[in-house]
Amino acid sequence: MSQPQVLTAEAVCPYQPGVDERKSAAAAAASDARAKKLSNGGVRVESFALTRKILRSGGTRQAGFMAELVNKATAKGSQPVLFQEGDVHQKQRIATARFFAPRVVTSRYRDLMNSLGDRLMEKLKTQGKADLSDLSLDMAVAVAAEIIGLTDGSLVGMSKRLNSFFTGGLKHKMTRFERMTNFISSQYNLLGFFWLDVKPAIRARRKAPKEDVISHLISQGYSDTEILTECMTYGAAGMVTTREFIVMCAWHLLERDALKAEFVATDEAGRIAILEEILRLEPVVGALYRRAAKDLSFEDNGETIHIPAGTLIDMDIRAANSDPIAAGECPFQLKPERDTKALLGSMSFGDGNHRCPGAAVALQESAIFLEKLLKIPGLHAVKPPNLGWNTLTVGYELRDAIIAVG
Ligand code: HEM
Repeated sequence: MSQPQVLTAEAVCPYQPGVDERKSAAAAAASDARAKKLSNGGVRVESFALTRKILRSGGTRQAGFMAELVNKATAKGSQPVLFQEGDVHQKQRIATARFFAPRVVTSRYRDLMNSLGDRLMEKLKTQGKADLSDLSLDMAVAVAAEIIGLTDGSLVGMSKRLNSFFTGGLKHKMTRFERMTNFISSQYNLLGFFWLDVKPAIRARRKAPKEDVISHLISQGYSDTEILTECMTYGAAGMVTTREFIVMCAWHLLERDALKAEFVATDEAGRIAILEEILRLEPVVGALYRRAAKDLSFEDNGETIHIPAGTLIDMDIRAANSDPIAAGECPFQLKPERDTKALLGSMSFGDGNHRCPGAAVALQESAIFLEKLLKIPGLHAVKPPNLGWNTLTVGYELRDAIIAVG
């Protein structure tokens, strides 16, 4: 359901109406994955205000990230937090909120982010050249692993395993043989993830619980398989997203000397404001899906919108973030000086009961990593990343982002 918009992006950008600085816009427009998902019916929502109302309404179920398929397979057990609803979900969020509390993020994880960042920058300086998407994966995996409690195996090995089952968009059309080998290798990696990463962590925490998600799940009586599913959810939600976001930010910043200089010179709050504007422009998760659990109606733009029970709702986060009512002037342009109230309107971390609990973690670790990176004398891009499309996150995948020092 595209809402009749009072303002168009063109109308609110009178002097540069055609300028679109979104690097992911063409790939988003070219992908037919969303149209396919809606081919059996459903509504599409593009307005910022209506997206927020739906996500806050509570009358829906998760229908993105293959939730409906996974729910069928795990109907009897505990579902991952992303797929839960109602009281069970609320209890889980309250119980895990302590791992994401602002005090914990700024104190407990800061040292880890700093030392990891330093180590990765040393690696880059020693090699002279690196693929930024490898460095950002190492950073994102290590930070999320600490929160989840996946700290009893090899981080390098885990990065490789996670990369292999979450990277999926660079090759759109695979032959049957490629699909089959892909399936076999992802099953192999899933087993590896369970036996080499998840199981050792469970074993260690059964003996001595720690302050992390796996210890919490054990205390709730989760089985090993349920813990594996939750770790996969955190892997996708926390590691993959942050990895892509860091590369996208570096891509924009390395092309803009003035903005790069401002980013390095300002304080962490200033750096995070710039990153939030990049995330508004280039959401890592491009669409959120819900299924109406009952008949719903909303007031929007002077209209009453009725959504019957059972309807699939496709909320276009890219469109919501560029809705002139929320973003203001020239929504397709990178303008960190944009009114900060408008920035708070970004839907890139979702909204309502499922809003991303890791938002502060992701922004802080990206700010720390990018500050260290952009301060390296002589750092430059050798080659811009290849941009592929991931149909699960409805977002970009950036690979082969070659950077060099000197
Ligand atoms: C730039 C990085 C990130 C982006 C863009 C992002 C985006 C999102 C979005 C859009 C949702 C909501 C999904 C929905 O409503 O259907 C979400 C949920 C979630 N995110 Fe993030 N995320 C990021 C980083 C992280 C990190 C670092 C963690 C943890 C280490 C994390 C953990 C989660 C979890 C557990 C959920 C599920 C929450 C729930 O369903 O109640 N995310 N994320």
